Amino acid sequence: MRAIRSKKIRVLVTGGAGFIGSHLVDALIAHGYYVRVIDNFINGKRENIAHHLSAGSLELSAGDVTSSRDVKKAVKDMDTVFHLACLGVRHSIKDPFENHRVNAEGTLNVLQKSLEARIKKLVYCSSSEVYGTAEYVPMDEAHPTKPCTVYGASKLAGESYARAYYKTYGLNTVMLRPFNTYGPRSHHEGDAGEVIPKSIVRSLGGRSILIFGDGWQTRDFTYVEDMARAIIAASLCPKAIGKTLNIGNGSEVSINKLTASISKITGRPQSAVKHGPGRPGDVLRLYSDSSLFRSMTGWSPRISLEEGLRKTTEWFAARPAGISSLLHQEKGINWR
Ligand SMILES: NC(=O)c1ccc[n+]([C@@H]2O[C@H](COP(=O)([O-])OP(=O)(O)OC[C@H]3O[C@@H](n4cnc5c(N)ncnc54)[C@H](O)[C@@H]3O)[C@@H](O)[C@H]2O)c1
Repeated sequence: MRAIRSKKIRVLVTGGAGFIGSHLVDALIAHGYYVRVIDNFINGKRENIAHHLSAGSLELSAGDVTSSRDVKKAVKDMDTVFHLACLGVRHSIKDPFENHRVNAEGTLNVLQKSLEARIKKLVYCSSSEVYGTAEYVPMDEAHPTKPCTVYGASKLAGESYARAYYKTYGLNTVMLRPFNTYGPRSHHEGDAGEVIPKSIVRSLGGRSILIFGDGWQTRDFTYVEDMARAIIAASLCPKAIGKTLNIGNGSEVSINKLTASISKITGRPQSAVKHGPGRPGDVLRLYSDSSLFRSMTGWSPRISLEEGLRKTTEWFAARPAGISSLLHQEKGINWR
């Protein structure tokens, strides 16, 4: 690892080769930060950060957030840590122990090593999945946390550890609860595959869009560049230290309506939709109240769902591998 001499703000992004992490890296580098990434590439992709690696603008520390040695090396000389590395919700259905180990224990490891390295601030990316299904909407931070999946539970554990490190040891942590996020580089493949990229790839490839359950589940979607901007805003806001904050668009859309919009954008008829089994532990309703975060940071989303879906579709349509190769990686039912 090369020695740090620059006067820039030095930040570590865990999971920085992933979907949101790589957009966060783009935004941080554009704002003049010195950026290091730790990722084990289990779901992250080198191509997501290759443009920075070839330009020499990013330091890569390939490693595992559950390893004390890897994380100790990664946090060395950093000012701020953005902790995003984790395994996803569908992974948690088939491998709950591994999911817990990375999401909860890995977070504890990152917190401890950050404390030892005297990191000035740690921003933890939790998830709206900590809430479980909405008991009232819109959901503010006082909404009960009753996660439906081991993923949601492990993210809540990580978030609780981040809060505990603030209260017990004085580590400056910020706990963020992003709602669903989508955009270029989102996962269409394997157990990481999410509804928007999966539906776009299936639709572009001439296959029926697959909806798990009746499609009346709702989500609150934020475009990934807006999310990256929000995460940076949180890191720059002194009042956010020790706080738990929702980040969401503040609108609710059913999966049926969402997939109808995708069909329209890709030029496929709405009839080309089929319903599969409901996903175990699927949350029925998520709709954020992010007014606390907005008032604290001045952040608001800039990209509408319609525009974001269009940009995401264009990105998938332009993949050099071609749609048939993407279709091959799209697994349909992807939690078994
Ligand atoms: N995508 C969403 O809709 C969404 C919504 C709410 C919260 N979040 C949170 O945002 C963060 C990023 O999510 P994402 O959608 O970009 O997921 P992602 O899977 O694309 O990114 C996670 C990254 O972590 C890496 N990783 C996994 N295990 C690791 C380990 N043991 N050591 C090192 N790296 C490891 C993966 O390779 C990947 O690059 C996560 O903390 C997630 O809980 C995401």
